[in-house]
Amino acid sequence: MYIDIANTEKSWQDVYSLCITFVTPRPIGFISTVAADGVRNLAPFSFFNMVCARPPILMFCPGRNRAGAKKDTLVNVEATGEFVAAVVTDAMGAAMNQTSAAYAPEVDEFAAAGFTPRPATMVQPALVGESPVNCECRLERIVEFGEGPGATAVVFGRVVAIHVDDRFLAADGLLDDGKLLTIGRMGRSGYVRTTDRFDLPRPTIG
Ligand SMILES: Cc1cc2nc3c(=O)[nH]c(=O)nc-3n(C[C@H](O)[C@H](O)[C@H](O)COP(=O)(O)O)c2cc1C
Repeated sequence: MYIDIANTEKSWQDVYSLCITFVTPRPIGFISTVAADGVRNLAPFSFFNMVCARPPILMFCPGRNRAGAKKDTLVNVEATGEFVAAVVTDAMGAAMNQTSAAYAPEVDEFAAAGFTPRPATMVQPALVGESPVNCECRLERIVEFGEGPGATAVVFGRVVAIHVDDRFLAADGLLDDGKLLTIGRMGRSGYVRTTDRFDLPRPTIG
């Protein structure tokens, strides 16, 4: 198969569906925000990563919905300049998925899906009580690509505080993968667990 994007009969949805079957597995950022009127919002984003070490910068990408409108998460970040990014573990998977339903802006998705909001220290959005790791972030910048349905905003946030549940720490002060058990997103409706791991030490030359 070969696709010339500018001259294909495939729709943008077809190309997107194809691409998310090979950009895999994708980490999932569970993004907590608060609306200008105080309503809490929680939604998963698998276009999510850490993109700078110093300063520590995370990014996630809320796309426009089928009507071409901004998702509540983006509206909230634009209004408040803050978000919390939590990790998603195997135990949280089903409830995390529930928060991706198209709830109206006035619905508190913590309550709707059964997650526990906990106060953050430096930002207004709540921490996700069930998640072993929560990062408090301040908006750094938003870069927009495209227009209408399928267009996407890339939201960059500076991490200003990190909360780690000590029970998930290894002896070296990092997270213990065997305890953390994050899940990742594949294409279609697929997910992966992180229970089959291996090491590849950095090579030396000669
Ligand atoms: C695991 C998972 C990953 C997702 N990743 C994204 C993503 O990267 N970008 C996006 O726009 N929507 C993504 N979604 C869909 C959003 O979570 C969904 O549209 C949600 O309703 C947005 O919530 P909001 O309107 O409260 O912001 C994902 C859904 C799931 C279940």
